[in-house]
Amino acid sequence: MKAPDLSTTYLGLQLKNPIIVGSSGLTDSVEKIVKLEKMGAAAVVLKSLFEEEILMEMEEQTHSMTNRHFVFPETMDYMESVETANILADYLELISNSKKSVDIPVIASINCVSSQKWIFFARAIEKAGADALELNLFFLPSDTQRGEKQIAETTSEIIAIIKKTVKIPVALKISAYQSNLIRYSESIDLAGVEGVVLFNRSWLPDIDINQLVISSGFVLSSPSDLGSTLRWVSILSGRLKCDIAASTGIHDGSGVIKQLLAGAQVCQVVSALYTTEQNHIAKMIDELSNWMVAHEFNSISEFRGRLSQSNSGNPAAWERVQFMKYFRNFV
Ligand SMILES: Cc1cc2nc3c(=O)[nH]c(=O)nc-3n(C[C@H](O)[C@H](O)[C@H](O)COP(=O)(O)O)c2cc1C
Repeated sequence: MKAPDLSTTYLGLQLKNPIIVGSSGLTDSVEKIVKLEKMGAAAVVLKSLFEEEILMEMEEQTHSMTNRHFVFPETMDYMESVETANILADYLELISNSKKSVDIPVIASINCVSSQKWIFFARAIEKAGADALELNLFFLPSDTQRGEKQIAETTSEIIAIIKKTVKIPVALKISAYQSNLIRYSESIDLAGVEGVVLFNRSWLPDIDINQLVISSGFVLSSPSDLGSTLRWVSILSGRLKCDIAASTGIHDGSGVIKQLLAGAQVCQVVSALYTTEQNHIAKMIDELSNWMVAHEFNSISEFRGRLSQSNSGNPAAWERVQFMKYFRNFV
């Protein structure tokens, strides 16, 4: 049997395989992106450009100034525009230099607070040559002022603004903490995104019991985090028109195969690449290819979504949250 065809599409982009390196410190320089392409990555999502980070940096600078002087509001506006221009310029340079240096698609990522910045950043990113744009959007789950309906409406408004601003494809990366994921995902699909990324990983708090302070919990995922993504990819894949990118807990080739069987178009990988050797992407690709040969699949479309909720023949299994039968064996 000849080698199976691993190619796929995502957001209308042609990819040589379904493995994308997700937004993180792994994709924050041209040198790293060139290496990732050599290692077999089919595309990269750049580290996000955070409006909040620009504001925080500015705050730090004004704080040191206000210790000594009164700062005029005009000065603050000026500083914000200079700070934004500097950070944005670096980001645009990363996009255009990456595009010159690699053949794989380069997807930019932004997280904004104000609607003006979403528009401003998206327009500049398209101009710099990004192949697509991932919107990294989160709503604080502890925000009691905003209901589910309001969150869905705000999200759809942001998508509509961006879609009006740029022609490149747009994906929305969401959090697993979003309430009513089916309704929410259907509303963003309707708003016109080309893809949805399930899921972003939230910062996890921990407690340092020696210092008695709040500290950072596990930054990286583990393979045991795969289940939640798998559940939602399988449930949503039969319901949405847009592509689904699986992200969280994919650490090896079997994780990729499972997500494709659940209905994912592509898999985004981050944590696994922080903890393994350089050839890890190649290993994942080999695992996928060998599995396809063993199961006599010539292309990914022959098996994608076979075990999605709508195709599996056992839809209840994907919605099961109690363990009765499984716990009984753990005596
Ligand atoms: C160190 C680190 C930095 C990250 N930075 C970003 C970021 O800038 N923007 C973003 O959307 N996601 C970011 N993420 C989330 C990842 O893109 C990914 O969604 C998450 O880690 C789950 O995938 P994984 O299980 O393969 O790690 C980051 C993750 C890590 C571990």
